[in-house]
Amino acid sequence: MARRTILIEGDETLRKKSRKVTSFDARLAELVADMFETMEHSNGVGLAAPQVGILRRIFVMDVGDGPVVAINPELTAFEGEQEELEGCLSLPGLYGFVKRPEKLRLTAQDVNGETFTMDLEGLGAVCACHETDHLNGVLFRDVAEGELFRPEDMEKAEEDDLNAENDD
Ligand code: NI
Repeated sequence: MARRTILIEGDETLRKKSRKVTSFDARLAELVADMFETMEHSNGVGLAAPQVGILRRIFVMDVGDGPVVAINPELTAFEGEQEELEGCLSLPGLYGFVKRPEKLRLTAQDVNGETFTMDLEGLGAVCACHETDHLNGVLFRDVAEGELFRPEDMEKAEEDDLNAENDD
């Protein structure tokens, strides 16, 4: 296993559409293992193949319910809505609120090419949407409500407000 370099927003690869995986071979297994190592090292909950420069329809995630590998993922059965704070390893330090379905069904293949389905909700549903967007060249900046922000700027703005109040 080896850690791979995560591409940062601005890199053209992140804006390209990924192609379907057709060979379920040792190279694919190695890529998936590397993606998990890279994600865990960066304290991420999800990582899509284009983020490590591979334009194939693959993502990995672990939102606390165990590792999931989704190859050629399809999302269906959307239910409800949630608006949560998101971040992305390709947009380090930036956060924003995104509206996503509360629940959905993930249908995908595993590293052996076996098809599985999984019902996801909450953070799992958010992550599956966010990572599937990456496979279509979409970044969360594109779908966020309003501008992305840096938490330290928010804290500074609050401090400035407090200081202004203390000056009265
Ligand atoms: Ni991301």
